[in-house]
Amino acid sequence: KGLGTIVNMRDFEKAAEDMCSKVAWAYYASAADDEITKEDNNSDYKNIRFRPRVLRPVKEADASTKILGYDSKIPLWISPAAMAKLGHPLGEVNLTRGAHSSGIIQCISSFASCSIEEITAARAPGQPLFFQLYVNSKRHLAKEVITKINRLGLNAILLTVDAPVGGKRERDIRAKGAFEAPKTEAFDKQGETKGVAEAIFSAVDPDLNWKDLKWLREQTELPIIIKGVQTVEDAVMAYKNGADGVILSNHGGRQLDTTQTGLSTLLEIRKHAPFLLRPEYRIPTGPNPQLIANPEKLYPDPPSTEKSLDRKFSIFVDGGIWRGSDAVKALCLGADAVGVGRGFLFAQTVGGQQGVEHAVKIFESEILLTMRLLGANKVQDLRPSMVEVMDSQHH
Ligand code: FNR
Repeated sequence: KGLGTIVNMRDFEKAAEDMCSKVAWAYYASAADDEITKEDNNSDYKNIRFRPRVLRPVKEADASTKILGYDSKIPLWISPAAMAKLGHPLGEVNLTRGAHSSGIIQCISSFASCSIEEITAARAPGQPLFFQLYVNSKRHLAKEVITKINRLGLNAILLTVDAPVGGKRERDIRAKGAFEAPKTEAFDKQGETKGVAEAIFSAVDPDLNWKDLKWLREQTELPIIIKGVQTVEDAVMAYKNGADGVILSNHGGRQLDTTQTGLSTLLEIRKHAPFLLRPEYRIPTGPNPQLIANPEKLYPDPPSTEKSLDRKFSIFVDGGIWRGSDAVKALCLGADAVGVGRGFLFAQTVGGQQGVEHAVKIFESEILLTMRLLGANKVQDLRPSMVEVMDSQHH
């Protein structure tokens, strides 16, 4: 069965379920407790309605952007997700090759099943790669990892902060007994059989705090992005403590269940800390009074600037992005780019490198189609006035 039958990202999910081992499926699909947040992550996008503008030229359209200064063909990256080899023998290397041939950026998990050396060996010259860091309680081990990241010339560090301890992932717990932690420096204990998640989190320091951000800053000159920010307060804390950006994320619903979604956190930031957003994104959603007063103006909202593509503080969102239109909604609201976790794990499970390339094609064509139908031919033209948030509490 070829990739021709895979028309959207949910098709990858269905195909992967049939192809994965029970343990792999339990680990990939699982989320915490009742998996409410995992569901909300996608359904929240359904509460945003588009306000398409008509009679705008859209024959030429371009979805490319810059992410932390690096070119990306679409405003979407591969979120760091552990254990790609559970789905396909080549694991993360599929993502590295597929990301390069498709022109997008891969974020490597601290718990990748391929070693960092294997991944960087598969990297094309000049290919940007970001690294997701869990800080080991044994700081000398954490330091070794950061030294290696610096030496191998990776391009950014995503510090994951929403997982001081692992969430209660029941599918994973039920499937336990069949997994042995691989022998990598990330794992303290070897050969014990636990659920996959349980084995992984034994190496993460639950006492990590804001002071450690200073420590991390001393270890590297790379941009540091805080991953797993779930409130406007912590987004402001990240900014004030010198982070280069945040990923508004609840870890794909795998940590604390019934938290708000990354999208809702973005709405909180719009309301309570708009200074974190680029100026042209600080305007309200919905009908634009400026345009109503001057209906003949084509682009009434504040114009985008070159600088805004490469500004200091970046805001990313992940969780529940299954459609190009979901990504476009987050961008209209001020996100610089979005991340996709499970979607790419499933794509590489089903089709290896070609699966990843096919997934990027799906996202690219859906993003371009959405932009055209919305009346925008560049991602920098997406604006809050192009969407309306249905949930009244967020106005
Ligand atoms: C993850 N995620 C994750 N995050 C992280 O910072 N380090 C990690 O090692 C992992 N591992 C991981 C494994 C699996 C199987 C999944 C599904 C997720 C979270 C990931 O980066 C991202 O936040 C979510 O996956 C985004 O949600 P979607 O796209 O899966 O809905």
